[in-house]
Amino acid sequence: SGLNVLAKAAGKLYFGSATDNPELNDTTYTSYLDNSNHFGQITPGNALKWDATEPEPNTFTFTEGDQVTDLVKSNGQILRAHNLVWHEQLPSWVTSNNYSASQLTEVIQNHISNLAGHYKGQPNTDFGFRQDAWDVVNEPFNDDGSFRSDVFYDTLGSSYISIALDAAREADPNAKLYINDYNIEYTGAKATAMQNLVKTLQSDSVPIDGIGMESHFIVGEVPTTLVENFQAFADLGVEFAITELDIRMTLPETADLLEQQKQDYYTVVSACLQVSACKGITVWDWTDKYSWIPSTFPGQGAATPFDDNYEEKPAFDGIVAAL
Ligand code: XIL
Repeated sequence: SGLNVLAKAAGKLYFGSATDNPELNDTTYTSYLDNSNHFGQITPGNALKWDATEPEPNTFTFTEGDQVTDLVKSNGQILRAHNLVWHEQLPSWVTSNNYSASQLTEVIQNHISNLAGHYKGQPNTDFGFRQDAWDVVNEPFNDDGSFRSDVFYDTLGSSYISIALDAAREADPNAKLYINDYNIEYTGAKATAMQNLVKTLQSDSVPIDGIGMESHFIVGEVPTTLVENFQAFADLGVEFAITELDIRMTLPETADLLEQQKQDYYTVVSACLQVSACKGITVWDWTDKYSWIPSTFPGQGAATPFDDNYEEKPAFDGIVAAL
């Protein structure tokens, strides 16, 4: 049976995938994506980012986002919304205006109230779809655990994080509010920094429900401390999710690499299954055909569980074996 069916039977909320608007014109692709036996949850890969939703100050465009949420709704899937505040894919007006701290606070609050307000979960209405979570803050840390220098941190210090979380709670009170990052899946300075941030937010009564573990891994290099680290997050009383899983290799793919990839997918999925605070698993697109890896990491690819022709790879069997 399907990945989502198996994930739910194993106690998770969903198995899901990211998707992006250009692919939605490919009807073979959507015929798989629409199958909620496999994919019970969708994350818009780009459609909800700042440049896509507020390209000019206070001018909001929801066309691409609505295309994804219409699909989510008609398929009866769950939405993970991504993201509200991130240093990338920011329109230039946010950085070039040299906003003061109070002006940038208003810019953040206005962006969040409009965007998260528009996609607010409204079950039992025509617009209704199951909105599970927002990635409110994306990638706030450097790998050494220091805060990333960007327009938000440089103007507001780490207070931009609580400003964003408070605004998101007000705009969409039922959404789980997440902070999402990479290289926090395993123990180390960055995971510790994220845990310390969670503790600070909790003691300041700032809403924080979950942590997104992106999980962009490399074949043969999946961290060995996933479960230990996941448990440390769970012990703080937050939930978490595997939000952007893919496991890339240096091309060309070989039978050995594909077999190792199967093991690696098994390792990650079973780590989620071992910790009940792990709510679900999202692959950062399910087919190699539309994976972001080849364009971002030249020479690498074949990172997803289905090949370019939508055939199941050994990685798919690794996921099934873990579920
Ligand atoms: C990626 C998209 O998949 C690409 O299409 C885009 O060009 C760049 O962003 N971490 C994140 C995601 O949080 O938003 C990124 O998505 C991948 C890395």
